[in-house]
Amino acid sequence: IPVEPFDLVVFGGTGDLARSKILPALFRRSVAGQVPEGGRIIGVARQDMGVEAYHALIAQSLRELLPDLAQVPGALDRFLKQLDYVALDATQPEGWEQLASMLGQGVRAFYFSVGPGLFGALAERLRQHGLVSDDTRIVVEKPFGHDLASARALNATLAAQFHERQIYRIDHYLGKETVQNLMAVRFGNMLFEPLWNSQYVDHIQITVAEAVGVGGRADYYDRAGAMRDMMQNHLMQLLCLIAMEPPAKFDPDAVRDEKLKVIRALDAVKPHHIVRGQYAVPVGGVGQGYRDEVGDPRSITESYIALRAHISNWRWAGTPFYLRTGKRLVARSSVINVMFKDAPHSIFGEEAGRHANVLSIRLQPNEGITLKVTIKEPGPGGMRLVDVPLDMSFAKALGPENQSPPDAYERLIMDVIRGNQTLFMRGDEVEAAWAWTDPIIAGWQARGDVPKPYDCGSTGPGDAELLMRRDGRRWQGINP
Ligand code: BG6
Repeated sequence: IPVEPFDLVVFGGTGDLARSKILPALFRRSVAGQVPEGGRIIGVARQDMGVEAYHALIAQSLRELLPDLAQVPGALDRFLKQLDYVALDATQPEGWEQLASMLGQGVRAFYFSVGPGLFGALAERLRQHGLVSDDTRIVVEKPFGHDLASARALNATLAAQFHERQIYRIDHYLGKETVQNLMAVRFGNMLFEPLWNSQYVDHIQITVAEAVGVGGRADYYDRAGAMRDMMQNHLMQLLCLIAMEPPAKFDPDAVRDEKLKVIRALDAVKPHHIVRGQYAVPVGGVGQGYRDEVGDPRSITESYIALRAHISNWRWAGTPFYLRTGKRLVARSSVINVMFKDAPHSIFGEEAGRHANVLSIRLQPNEGITLKVTIKEPGPGGMRLVDVPLDMSFAKALGPENQSPPDAYERLIMDVIRGNQTLFMRGDEVEAAWAWTDPIIAGWQARGDVPKPYDCGSTGPGDAELLMRRDGRRWQGINP
């Protein structure tokens, strides 16, 4: 789809997110011909540097991250020609006139790639200096608040200057191609939806496993933990897409209304349905555990969480949703497993064993779908049953030109430019997610809960297995 020229201003333009995600995404779109001439991309930060120095900084990141694209003749030059830099402090009055003078008349987007503490100041200055028109959009990232109260305050700060339709809250999981595929699979096929309820589904497992640790973000992470960093947003969004009613249309409010209903129908989670973990070096092993990495030998922040959630509505009453996410696990693997019930009666007798269908949707890596089906084991020895996978990889099925789908940020930034909010969180959704999260965290604090250690490179704490076993169930494996 062609795009009109646009201006995109990145506050925090020298920061990590800008260099590792936002500008690389724009560069890829530029190579794809979707950053038309006439628009500008403007990095804004406090550092007093000239545009040449900024170009050098960004070119270096792009060469490192996208070596192939950076070598395409003329590509980098073309991109840098559209890239500007303005030195400005969001809390000070200087620099805004210069920024204003660089902007055209079309769509403009301001990306707040800065700490939430600056959102208010930025929003006010933009208004004050006349930079906001009806066609202006602002983009904000998580952490969107620390709890319900701070999320409400942030929403109020933004609402004082912008309409909700101008605010784009990013949850980058929604930009992932396979996450959008959840909707295509559910609502584009006749096959699944009639079975998609508590009558046929025994339970659902959502796993977002990471092999990496907290890395360079120890400061932020140790204050957040897996509950705030992943569960409240990314896993919650996956849960919504898996559990929601079919929206009447694929349009922003229709989709977000349905997601919101799921969050509001969530029961409070019982303390014994939650397992917290923290990675540690196995006995005799080498390397760093969580506490070494964050530099606090007494940290009780969780780097892993597993919990059992219930959605109290007609579709899902009685079907538990087991969610787990953690760092330094055995592999990077995000999968949703829809575990169907056993057939109500086996005509093959006891010895045929129990068999249940499983629909696995692999979000990353090796994106695709596997349906476990039961068939007859070949051979003359009577009717023995065996489970086999009906296995589809999206890349193989869709051909080589679809081997590398656009990155989540590419998709989301272009949606901002096109003015499509479907894949962005609405303010009430974020607040509802915090309303569900807050009591869980408050419970830990009240009880002085300490996370269970688990070995780096494992599948997480043993208690998470127990959580399932108590219910007569098991986690599916974590396979890359
Ligand atoms: C971020 C979290 O939102 O998502 C990180 O803050 C996490 O802690 C990351 O590592 C995972 O994203 P992805 O795209 O690598 O699955």
